[in-house]
Amino acid sequence: MQRHGDAWSPARSLARWCAHARRALRATPTITTVPRVPPPPAPQHPDALPSPRIRRADAVDLDALVALEERVFRHDRLSRAQFRRHLDSDSALVLIAKEDGRLLGAAVVFFRRRAQVARLYSLVTAPEARGRGVGTALLEAAERAARVRRCRTLRLEVRTDNRAALRLYETRGYRHLVHRPGYYEDGSDAHRYEKPLR
Ligand SMILES: CC(C)(COP(=O)(O)OP(=O)(O)OC[C@H]1O[C@@H](n2cnc3c(N)ncnc32)[C@H](O)[C@@H]1OP(=O)(O)O)[C@@H](O)C(=O)NCCC(=O)NCCS
Repeated sequence: MQRHGDAWSPARSLARWCAHARRALRATPTITTVPRVPPPPAPQHPDALPSPRIRRADAVDLDALVALEERVFRHDRLSRAQFRRHLDSDSALVLIAKEDGRLLGAAVVFFRRRAQVARLYSLVTAPEARGRGVGTALLEAAERAARVRRCRTLRLEVRTDNRAALRLYETRGYRHLVHRPGYYEDGSDAHRYEKPLR
């Protein structure tokens, strides 16, 4: 026998369904949409340049490149003729950082046809512009250029006693590959470092 209270009616059925739905909703965790917040910018050196302008050097930069090379390096300098050749070559890239017409720094990268390893031959920041991110910006530009040319690795040599450069490379993902005794003109040793480019 059916009890009166259990008799089916559309209104009762709808009420039961609503009660069920309310219970189910209470049991479901609330999903709140969190607005996307961009990650905070990486901490920068207080004197960091907003973003030094890096571009490929051309013939008008030749004098400034030679002057910077002569100011900073005593050995293993690139000559004017070598710079001129590299400015004009497909297998070399000379990058410069400039501010208000002044040369702040330069990098020279070499490529070989069909090779997946590019070589950072030189990286230099003018003494008065050091510690402001110019070297890092040039290094990153060299890595980007190597990636564009489908290189998988950027390799370089650095003097074993060049603390600033060693720190720069080590903190930017370069790993020691091999020690090269007597590598430089003055007989000092080098470390070869490389970084896989992703
Ligand atoms: C190495 C060199 C290019 C760095 O240029 P820079 O513009 O001063 O470099 P940045 O300001 O981008 O600094 C990058 C990093 O280098 C390291 N660095 C720079 N100067 C340093 C110093 N005096 N002591 C220790 N580490 C130093 C730090 O790791 C720094 O990163 P951080 O500030 O986050 O700690 C510059 O010192 C230079 O031109 N030296 C003479 C030429 C040379 O040795 N070239 C390298 C040939 S392999």
